Amino acid sequence: MKRIVTGVFILFLVGLCTACGNNVLQNSKTDSENPQSDTQIEADEAASNEESEAQEIVEKKEFLIAYFSRTGNTKELAEEISSQTGGELFEIVPTEPYPADYDETVERFRRERDENARPTIANSVKDMAHYDVIFIGFPNWGDDMPHIVYTFLEQYDFTGKTIVPFCTNGGGGFGNSIEGLSRTCPNSKIFEGFECSGNRVQSENGNIAEWLGSLGLEE
Ligand SMILES: Cc1cc2nc3c(=O)[nH]c(=O)nc-3n(C[C@H](O)[C@H](O)[C@H](O)COP(=O)(O)O)c2cc1C
Repeated sequence: MKRIVTGVFILFLVGLCTACGNNVLQNSKTDSENPQSDTQIEADEAASNEESEAQEIVEKKEFLIAYFSRTGNTKELAEEISSQTGGELFEIVPTEPYPADYDETVERFRRERDENARPTIANSVKDMAHYDVIFIGFPNWGDDMPHIVYTFLEQYDFTGKTIVPFCTNGGGGFGNSIEGLSRTCPNSKIFEGFECSGNRVQSENGNIAEWLGSLGLEE
């Protein structure tokens, strides 16, 4: 008798477990069959966010705004370009600073031009490979780039990069500097530059915005 009662009880337990098991299976089936369940929507949204973030990382171009400036005009222009583009600033610092005196600077400039010198630079760009677009700014010296800017351009590999020149001057525009730039960086795309008189930089913000917009740099 005791055996019969135990047997009936075991059968009852087996029946109960089978019923529970079916229920669990049914629930999980419902989740996977219904793509619009809350869990599924959340997972889809997370995946789609990750995808668009990844796309943003791929598409966003990195800008470097490198410049040389002795008396601050080109520096001001560089800072404005950086603030409008979000690009990183890099000042080309000469190992031997240029004199504050104008005549002494002209004397040194003539010497460097006549010797086709490459004055040394005290600092360096950590990872040039990181940047897609390099703005390069300089004052017009003798209708050309100061020779220290040639030093800078010869120090890195700009192959395949976009170079955008900008320049301040005393009325001579870019002079012949764009020819010098193209010769030095033959494997780069050189975009149309921006130049203005050194004493007018502060009133150029609108023109700078217009010029930057016309370049289509993010395309
Ligand atoms: C050595 C030297 C040579 C210059 N040669 C020219 C020139 O040929 N044409 C010109 O328009 N301005 C010339 N300038 C004027 C500078 O280009 C101008 O003042 C510029 O805005 C200075 O920029 P910075 O303040 O960034 O150094 C010369 C200035 C110096 C010091």
